[in-house]
Amino acid sequence: MTFRIAPSVLSADFARLGEEVRAVAAAGADLIHFDVMDNHYVPNLTIGPLVCRAIRPHVELPIDVHLMVKPVERIIPDFAKAGANIISFHPEASEHIDRTIGLIRELGCKAGLVFNPATPLSYLDHTLDKLDLVLIMSVNPGFGGQKFIPQVLPKIAEVRRRIERGGREVWLEVDGGIKADNIAEIAAAGADTFVAGSAIFDSGDYAATIRALRAALGKAARGRAA
Ligand code: DX5
Ligand code: ZN
Repeated sequence: MTFRIAPSVLSADFARLGEEVRAVAAAGADLIHFDVMDNHYVPNLTIGPLVCRAIRPHVELPIDVHLMVKPVERIIPDFAKAGANIISFHPEASEHIDRTIGLIRELGCKAGLVFNPATPLSYLDHTLDKLDLVLIMSVNPGFGGQKFIPQVLPKIAEVRRRIERGGREVWLEVDGGIKADNIAEIAAAGADTFVAGSAIFDSGDYAATIRALRAALGKAARGRAA
């Protein structure tokens, strides 16, 4: 299994974003997770396509845009133009989920669907065969630095089973409260892509923190093989 670490720039220093994304790329990140909040779908306001465009020249890594905005459709082309590689949205924020997935893919981006802790997986029933990524929220969206909600572990396992049954490659990303001391159990449940905001950006040494996350994942993988 390939594991990916996606630092969330939500916890970066916004006054030095270019430098911050270069620093996490040099520290071994696999993706740049970009949290977009609109003070409507979620009670916080962050960054948009202009900022995505501004960081684009600073990193070659894929930019993984997590849209917490409602309505979501009209902003999607702006992110594709701004250099996003993956665009994920919450089903509650879309009038026509299938159309929104189609729009993201037509624009040449990978499409992801995001599930809040209480959002039912039934939204996957008629969408999984078109998705590139499923993102399971392990906190309620809106803020960095919240505590991981362990009740989502069985949900992650259920998504992994659905992906296996589907027989296509779909990334299973988890977002919220991920640290070196819980990443192994999240991987054991079936996740392969891990968002970490405060764990990385609030640490003094990004490379050491990413190494610690990978070391914990390595132990989880060895445990599974044993
Ligand atoms: C929450 C965001 C997360 C958040 C993760 O709405 O989607 O990406 O920044 O931050 P940590 O890792 O600090 O929980
Ligand atoms: Zn996120």
